Parts: sequence; structure tokens; C-alpha cells
Amino acid sequence: MNYYELKGVNGLKPKVYITRKIPSQILGKIKDSFDVTMWNEEETPVPREELERQIQTVDGLYCLLTESIDRELLEMAPNLKIISNMAVGYNNIDVESATEKGIMVTNTPGVLTETTADLTFALLMSTSRRIVESDRYLREGNWKTWSPMLLTGQDIYDATLGIIGLGRIGEAVARRAAGFNMNVLYHNRSRKLEAEQELGITYTSMETLLKESDFVCVLTPYTPETKNLIDREELALMKETAILVNTSRGGIVNEEALYLALKNEKIWAAGLDVFEEEPVSLGHPLLTLSNVVVLPHIGSASKKTRLKMADVAADNLIMGLQNLSPKHLVNAKVVGNQR
Ligand code: GLV
Repeated sequence: MNYYELKGVNGLKPKVYITRKIPSQILGKIKDSFDVTMWNEEETPVPREELERQIQTVDGLYCLLTESIDRELLEMAPNLKIISNMAVGYNNIDVESATEKGIMVTNTPGVLTETTADLTFALLMSTSRRIVESDRYLREGNWKTWSPMLLTGQDIYDATLGIIGLGRIGEAVARRAAGFNMNVLYHNRSRKLEAEQELGITYTSMETLLKESDFVCVLTPYTPETKNLIDREELALMKETAILVNTSRGGIVNEEALYLALKNEKIWAAGLDVFEEEPVSLGHPLLTLSNVVVLPHIGSASKKTRLKMADVAADNLIMGLQNLSPKHLVNAKVVGNQR
């Protein structure tokens, strides 16, 4: 008899806490099997004190990247068996502490790959062709005439694209780049010979990638090793006409260094979907620059994809609490040592 059945027999369903209002069909699916409490707000994250209160009694946690699931919180959760993050990135969770305590951690890879690659390309295109700036220009009544060099940008076709971090999303961006006849370079912890063959892309050192690319896309996970991966020295290697796009995590690019590089025209533009601190403050220096396109972390935000992510996170949670191996376990090391 597995854990779930045991609890079911006693009439005590495992307890689950959900840290944000999720679509009703997904909630229904979780409620079928568990005793669920949910922070019933769409746009306000659960206050830390409330999360600390709830975590003390639950068996499963369904959370978002807005919650910091740190060691201190895990210390308060004697029954917690699984943390299901509704995101592919899980830098908001102290995975090492979770593993040590026998708690499973899951994420939602795969379902958001194409949607996030689309948005990466949207940022690449909107920065290079000054789409947001041009829209503002027109609305503010500045459009007096067609003019030879008015709002001229950088070409995408035939340009060189450098992908830092060739995971699923990096590969999907490379596939899009082929349609624009781009020359694609990549840098990754390990070389990917199959992807090189299939996509016609070239592995280079970080230095070569930064020096040769017209577009640099940051798509690596955020870890202690990738914190400030793009800093002053890296930005200094880039072309003055180059564009930086970050759809991964804010802390990978040093924002002060980026601001100075953009302001001093050391690089040409940046497209940012992510920030070191989110939501980014309206007084942030990067927001004063017209050559920056900023978005509120919407990489995976298509209706279809967000529903799929919510569903995958629910499945992970349900399987974990039913003592079946969740499909997207981040900390495989926990197996055999689960609570
Ligand atoms: C979004 O940023 C995610 O990690 O899914």
C-alpha cells in the first residue's frame, strides 16, 4: 500500500499548499486527491509569514518562482515530501537542503521551450529594429515624414548569433535563427556534437562568441557559477553594434555593468525579460535608456504554455505524493532517501 492509499484509508488526505491562484481545472485535479489550501490571489505573492505558517503542516508544496524556498523554510516543514515548482528554472529553491532532508523537487521542462524561444526572438527583433522605440515615437506625435536614416537599426538576416547555454531553449532559438540565415555560435558547459550537426551551429569559447556575435542570447540556468557571467569584461569584448538578450535569469548579467555599457555605447542595445530583483523598480537606471526593451518576465507566457506548465506541475506533485516517481525530478539524488 503506498503512502497515498494509506492516508486515503484513514480518511486523511495528504495536505497540499498552493502559493498562488491557479486555473480551476488544474486545482480541481489536485483537489481530487489531496486536502488543498491555496493562496487565492493572482497578482499578489503569498506573504512569507503565511507561507511559513502553511509549510508547517503540509505534505506537498506547489509554488512559483516568486517564492524563496530556502533552508530556513524547509526547517519548518517536518512533513514536506515534495516541492513542485511551476517553472523550468528552480534557482528559487535550495535544492541541496531539500535533497539532504529527503524532499523531492520538480520543475516543468519541455512544455515552455518553444514559447520561450519565440519570446527570445521577439526581443532580438524588437531591439534590433527599434520596435518599441518606434511605436513610442509615433504615438508621441514625432512622425513628421519618411526620412532616410530615421529609426534605423541592425539587420537580423545574415548576422551572427551567439547562444550562451545550449539547452532546449537555446536549440529552439538556433532553429529559428536558421530561417534568418544567421550564423550561429554557441558556448555551453559541454559541447553538443549532435546539435552542431543537426543545426549547423559552431561551438566557440566564450571570448570568441562575445567578440564575434551581433546578438548574444543568454539562456543558461542561474547557478552560483553563472552569477554575473556577463560582467564588465565580457561586455567590453562585445561589438559596439551588438545586442544582448536575456530571457533566463537576471543575476546572470551584471546590471550595473550592462547599464554602463549601454549608456556609454559600448554595446548597441539590450532586450531583457528578467532582472536581478523582480519586479524591477521603476527607478532602475536601465529603464531610463531608450535602447533597452524591458519585459516583466513573460518568456513562457502564452495561454497554452502556462496551462501546460500548471498541469505538469500538478502531475509532478500528484505523482510525488502517490509515491510514484515524478516525471521531472530535479534532485535525482533524493531517490532512496525520500521522506
Ligand atoms: C520561467 O522563467 C521559468 O523558469 O519557467
